[in-house]
Amino acid sequence: MSSDFGIYIHTPWCKSRCPYCAFNVFTSGADYSRWKSGLFSAWENTAPHFEGLAHSLYFGGGTPSLAPAHVLGTLIQRLPLAENAEVTVEVNPGSIDADGLRALLDIGVNRLSLGVQTFNTQHAKTLGRGHTVRQTRKLLSQVSRLGFDSWSMDLMFCLPRQTLSELNDDLSVLLDYSPPHVSLYGLTIEPNTPFDTAQQRGLLHLPEADTWRGMYDLIVDRLTQAGRDRYEVSNFSRPGHRAVQNESVWRGGFYAGLGPGAHGYLPQGSRTVGKANLEAWFADPHPILTPQSPAEAAADLILSTLRHIDGLCTLRLQKQTGFTLCESTVENLQTHRLITVGDGRIRLCHDAFAVSDGVVRRLIDTLISG
Ligand SMILES: C[S@@+](CC[C@H](N)C(=O)[O-])C[C@H]1O[C@@H](n2cnc3c(N)ncnc32)[C@H](O)[C@@H]1O
Ligand code: SF4
Repeated sequence: MSSDFGIYIHTPWCKSRCPYCAFNVFTSGADYSRWKSGLFSAWENTAPHFEGLAHSLYFGGGTPSLAPAHVLGTLIQRLPLAENAEVTVEVNPGSIDADGLRALLDIGVNRLSLGVQTFNTQHAKTLGRGHTVRQTRKLLSQVSRLGFDSWSMDLMFCLPRQTLSELNDDLSVLLDYSPPHVSLYGLTIEPNTPFDTAQQRGLLHLPEADTWRGMYDLIVDRLTQAGRDRYEVSNFSRPGHRAVQNESVWRGGFYAGLGPGAHGYLPQGSRTVGKANLEAWFADPHPILTPQSPAEAAADLILSTLRHIDGLCTLRLQKQTGFTLCESTVENLQTHRLITVGDGRIRLCHDAFAVSDGVVRRLIDTLISG
């Protein structure tokens, strides 16, 4: 039992599917009333694993800003949230107007995550976004004027044909809007997406491999200078504006995952996943338990916590999974100034955030059992 948990709700519908996206989304069959009923049923099934009140509720997508505010409002009212819980809704430009944003405030949403991705018209077209840059700017002006406690912008980089100078321009515009929180993601080519097909045919002109590093360093420099501190590989915020829900996940915290294809993590140590197929989920929305082997649990803990500035608690790793880190790997990573060791924790060094995947891989590959 745990009173320290979050609730993640997956909203599976979008107006159209972006060609790089591998999320569990649908462009037809939206039925928010059935979805709401399914979510309550899923929560009733999951609730016995949690105790007390949730510190956060996150509506992710898909495009949650397409959902009627009264449906989101009923969920906010009836789910067991702490009084000051963070309630976040992901919002896409062009999916909501000023009245819709006000309605979100009225039902108790106190944080928005805005899917900006780029301010460059050509790159927005390449990304196949269902909105224009003009709509993005309009949304940002509206959000800046309204009274949300906090809000965040998602931006993508390493886009096809994108130059360092274009990214620099995107960052300048982003900072002009003064977001309290920012998430930056390098474009990943996901299997079986139209971008994947285009890349295999040589039609996607991605920046050279070492460009990613240059772009990431530029992002860190500009955001840090502007007072947004990096607290996770891809996440930056002003003091007091870290994302409660996401930060809890990166600290290895527990959460109920509700909705089609949603992932959850129960205090007993099991992962859960909702059925991904829409009709199958409507028929049975209960999250399915996917117990982990100790080795999987150890890898999972390293993966989720090392990307955060607080790093990995080695005692927790041992107690929770029975695995320990290989001493010579740790020494080697220290020698190469990739990690620091102290206060019972392993933390990434400043320059190692850019190569965190490799560091995580080496620690996982050399884990010692028992
Ligand atoms: C849950 S997703 C989608 C949120 C929202 N529907 C949107 O598209 O703006 C959250 C973020 O993941 C990032 N993302 C999605 N697909 C990606 C990919 N293939 N590579 C890198 N980042 C990706 C985008 O920045 C997106 O805002
Ligand atoms: S709007 Fe977001 S979730 Fe929907 S298809 Fe595009 S990237 Fe995926």
